[in-house]
Amino acid sequence: MSPPAEPTHRLQIGVLHGPNLNLLGVREPSVYGTTTLEELNAQLVAHGSALGAAVHCVQSNSEGVLIDTVHAWRGTMHGVVVNAGAYAHTSLALRDALQGVSLPFIEVHLSNVFAREPERHHSMLAPAALGVIVGLGAFGYRAAIEALVHRFATVP
Ligand code: DQA
Repeated sequence: MSPPAEPTHRLQIGVLHGPNLNLLGVREPSVYGTTTLEELNAQLVAHGSALGAAVHCVQSNSEGVLIDTVHAWRGTMHGVVVNAGAYAHTSLALRDALQGVSLPFIEVHLSNVFAREPERHHSMLAPAALGVIVGLGAFGYRAAIEALVHRFATVP
């Protein structure tokens, strides 16, 4: 008997993790938790799949690679979840990329950036985002995926 076919998902969602998020699990666990990036990505793929969406996760410490990834996702992803790490606070270039390819995106931060140092209170991405989720840990990514699924179920 042949193995069951992989589910085919109509909706393609990209999850972009920025600098230092490869250190999740070891990096300041009191701020970012103990879940590793690999574990988080597995959770997100499973969560998306249960909702009928294929989730594709990419992490890079390089601003240029993040921008190239956004460009490559033009026409292949329907929406994006972005935790740009510290680049969220600095990168006009990443916002330009997301706007340039007209990809709807939700900005996520694991920690409540507004309860932290003032330099984390401003986001370069937020003005172009569909929404922003902060301070809810890994659940924030799942909520963002769900919000994109909901959006594409209701907006043709
Ligand atoms: C972060 C918050 C940023 O300020 C920080 O630079 C990060 C992680 C978060 O997920 O809480 O790298 O994006």
